[in-house]
Amino acid sequence: MTSSTTQHRASEQGRVLADPTAYADDARLHAALTWLRANEPVAWVDNPPYLPFWAVTKHADIMAIERDNELFVSGPRPLLMPADADEVLKAQREAGIGLRTLIHMDDPHHRKVRVIGADWFRPKAMRDLKVRVDELARRYVDRMREVGPECDFVTEIAVNFPLYVILSLLGLPESDFPRMLKLTQEMFGGDDAEHQRGDTTEDMLAVLADFFNYFAALTASRRANPTEDLASAIANGRIDGEPLSDMDTASYYVIVASAGHDTTKDAISGGLRALIENPDQLARLAADPSLMPTAVEEMIRWSTPVKEFMRTATRDTEVRGVPIAKGESVYLAYVSGNRDEEVFDDPFRFDVARDPNRHVAFGYGVHFCLGAALARMEMNSFFTELVPRLDSIELAGPPELSATTFVGGLKHLPIRYSLR
Ligand code: HEM
Repeated sequence: MTSSTTQHRASEQGRVLADPTAYADDARLHAALTWLRANEPVAWVDNPPYLPFWAVTKHADIMAIERDNELFVSGPRPLLMPADADEVLKAQREAGIGLRTLIHMDDPHHRKVRVIGADWFRPKAMRDLKVRVDELARRYVDRMREVGPECDFVTEIAVNFPLYVILSLLGLPESDFPRMLKLTQEMFGGDDAEHQRGDTTEDMLAVLADFFNYFAALTASRRANPTEDLASAIANGRIDGEPLSDMDTASYYVIVASAGHDTTKDAISGGLRALIENPDQLARLAADPSLMPTAVEEMIRWSTPVKEFMRTATRDTEVRGVPIAKGESVYLAYVSGNRDEEVFDDPFRFDVARDPNRHVAFGYGVHFCLGAALARMEMNSFFTELVPRLDSIELAGPPELSATTFVGGLKHLPIRYSLR
């Protein structure tokens, strides 16, 4: 846990990272990040109710920290949360009753747990799932046409399509859709009033408990009657010959259901917004569909749905010459890494043909996003279906971003369009 007693000079600009409202204001966030990269690339941030941390804003430093997963571990403080929530969740994990997902784990346990689900994200599984994903993409582009000529793209389309994909991957019935939708939004939109169940730590813990209970019932049913899906692989997974603990099992479902949903929704809606705001790039993609893979990568870099993860130093060290004491935490600013002038030519230009595009939106190293291939496939299917059918598209009102320090993007994207 970060030591709050150590004296460091707190960064003024860095405070923006510990302010959920800043993430709903692109201009404000990027102005601060651009300044930090140039002037204070490793900045001490002290902004209650968060415990202090080092904000790391350079692409190369983010990668170096993620690469060294013995020196920088996830377990003590995997992501930015208000101090009281940090404490409660940590105490629960230590007592074996809370959520402990892949992102909370370190090796060797992390590797053993990750491997249990990994097959379901490999190329073969992706090929098997592609038919279903293409079918869902068509369903949602058809739906856009039905509800047109105007809609809120986020609430009508982007939020639903990835959740159906996840439910298919897990092997859950579509009838569970409304319940999962509400839970993932409550969990990941946690700082934003529109999606919150309530604003207390108890409310947040109640959301976690609901997730947990739903998946405990699923485990029991898949253990009794195994089927060919990811849910069965998780329910029947073993480590060193022993079944996964109840906590690890339920946590596995939670990470897949939650990590695979809002992230992809944010990348799809952020990607569509970028295409609308850069009509030359939309026209270029429409004229040359072979650009789809680079366009998808650029949409992911551009939107960077996961704003941060954190690591904690296991011994005294330094980053870019700045001393980091054992027990202090670093905040990996993916949003900043993905606009780093030293890595990307003209980083604030949206370019559907950008290549190379070494973005860090999926992280790096042993925790590299397990669902990256799935997210890419979903976006590919969706835009491959949408782009050739578009006669016109424009904004029908101001886009609205969610106020959250963790996973976020557009809450509302009002659009007007004509679709074939
Ligand atoms: C555009 C969409 C997505 C983005 C931007 C994204 C981003 C990320 C990031 C930044 C991490 C942490 C990496 C690190 O610490 O180095 C992560 C981890 C993870 N993601 Fe994704 N993700 C996306 C979609 C998905 C999907 C579709 C799934 C699965 C259905 C998924 C499942 C996971 C899991 C299980 C982890 C934890 C991996 C571990 O700790 O070993 N993600 N993701």
